[in-house]
Amino acid sequence: MVDKQLISDIKNSVNIVDVIGEVVQLTKAGRNFLGLCPFHGEKTPSFNVVEDKQFYHCFGCGRSGDVFKFIEDYRGVSFMEAVQIIAEQAGIAVQSLPQVGAKSQVIDAKQPFYDIHEEAAKFYHAILMTTKMGEEARQYLFDRGLDDEVLRHFQIGLAPGEGNYLYKSVSGKFAENILTDSGLFHISDLGTIYDAFQDRIMFPLTDDSGQVIAFSGRLWREQEEGTGPQGKYKNSRSTILFNKSYELYHLDKAKQVAKKTHELYLMEGFMDVIAAYRAGIENAVASMGTALTREHVKHLSRFTKKVILTYDGDKAGRLATAKALDILEKQTVEIVQIPDQMDPDEYLQKNSPQALADLLEKTRISRIEFLMDYWKPDNIENLQAQIEFVEKMAPLIAQTPSVTAQNTYIYKLSDLLSDFDYLQVEQIVNASRLQMRQQRQKQGQEQENNPSPVFHSGNLQRQLPQLIRAENHLLHRMSHFPYILNDYRLRTDFSFDTPALQVLYQLLCQNGEVTSQDLSEQTEEVQRAWYRMLEEDLPDEIAEHELEEVEETRNRELLRKESQQIGKKVREASHSGDADQALLELERLIAQKRRME
Ligand code: GTP
Ligand code: MN
Repeated sequence: MVDKQLISDIKNSVNIVDVIGEVVQLTKAGRNFLGLCPFHGEKTPSFNVVEDKQFYHCFGCGRSGDVFKFIEDYRGVSFMEAVQIIAEQAGIAVQSLPQVGAKSQVIDAKQPFYDIHEEAAKFYHAILMTTKMGEEARQYLFDRGLDDEVLRHFQIGLAPGEGNYLYKSVSGKFAENILTDSGLFHISDLGTIYDAFQDRIMFPLTDDSGQVIAFSGRLWREQEEGTGPQGKYKNSRSTILFNKSYELYHLDKAKQVAKKTHELYLMEGFMDVIAAYRAGIENAVASMGTALTREHVKHLSRFTKKVILTYDGDKAGRLATAKALDILEKQTVEIVQIPDQMDPDEYLQKNSPQALADLLEKTRISRIEFLMDYWKPDNIENLQAQIEFVEKMAPLIAQTPSVTAQNTYIYKLSDLLSDFDYLQVEQIVNASRLQMRQQRQKQGQEQENNPSPVFHSGNLQRQLPQLIRAENHLLHRMSHFPYILNDYRLRTDFSFDTPALQVLYQLLCQNGEVTSQDLSEQTEEVQRAWYRMLEEDLPDEIAEHELEEVEETRNRELLRKESQQIGKKVREASHSGDADQALLELERLIAQKRRME
């Protein structure tokens, strides 16, 4: 009971428009707010947030739900995690959640994993900083230019060379399943447990709040022959805490700085982020040895609109930059190119911390400048190659808002091309702009002739079959008026024809209400049905004979549906030559038709 109350308090303490508005740009459209659906790719907005009912619905992909459901889907977390996230936003003490009842187990369930990671991080760090074993590894890091302050800031550690040191140190304090599911240990075929990371420099990976959730370990000794090729870096496997497609190294600290600078550097490697830190730049992050994903970008976008791509200067880094630019299409992006195929860390070693800082802060180029260099054909003397190159660049230049910038790009581009001068390139850019404008107008006209059902929820309701609308209507009244629910409860022969509504009806009968949590345990179909029902725009008051009329509609539609089905059976039976069956069904159909009259 307390549980439910707290969850509903949490829900009531935020406005869904604010929560969704943080990640989706919403504009007011009538009573609702409208934006581009974050769950499916779309160019015209069909994602509605209904403020007075505190839920959202997308007419494009059909997703809908309340604020918890949004967080669940958007962040890929469980219901209880979503509750916790909203609680945090609302400033409701999260510690109070685990105490409120059995249903809070998900939150409780994560805590030991945080604890074991914190223990492990402390253990590895202590091995590096204070033991004889750690001395050599520390020397390796000193040789790479790190000092104790840096080692502490990044809580760098060392996993001992063999066996199960970590296991011995923590196994007494944690339950068996925590140990095995933490990702920190392996179990051999014979059942012996050993540490997953051995003889590696350990980089703890943290979540947004700075809690350690995983590790990455780097080999640091010359590999002995015959030990086989091992990855230079090795990450924790995915666990309940760690999703490497979402997390970014050092984001917990970098985001603090980004609050002031409104920008984050995105780099390839952990050592690059550390190099930036040594150069006094504390707002750098790195993905975990994987290509940038859309999840990463969503994560980044929570803390900054501007990303400074600072990948390695080699061919692979440039390819990765071009790919990242695609994924970062909605963000403001600048690019830092590191000279001589170096990565930021190598650049710092070769030059100085100040030189790296200058490079990062003063040599940024725009998306277009990067692509102009990246797409520049090798055979640029070839006229055909030049034409293709100009046509690729022209739309990008035409879309640049600043006219001065456009002129600069046109100038730069014509400079690269022996067969085009400034005026010729400018002409192509202008033609491209005109073409885009015409295309937009054409699309606009198509939309006028054939308006898409985006602007208000009424359209959706009209598309629903009459039967479902009538059943929605009934369920809506039942869920808002306990006495109506009671009336129906007493009618033991009553049930909904629409399976999802029947499920909801049974939930209502059992509990008298359908809470966010009840819903979160249902299938997607049932959840959607609930919000489709809530979307019925009914007057607050119940009219006289309202329910009788709705029931009449429902019965009529039920009969119609049934006779359609019988009709189908008659046709099937006569097709398959089963005359007896066909006759039987026909009789039923006739009887049915009579009842309908
Ligand atoms: P250092 O050699 O220590 O300077 O690291 P680096 O950052 O220069 O490494 P590199 O450019 O080779 O790799 C960049 C990032 O990719 C690293 O920080 C890791 O996150 C990741 N990475 C590199 N090698 C591996 C590997 O073998 N396995 C995994 N999982 N990730 C790797
Ligand atoms: Mn490096």
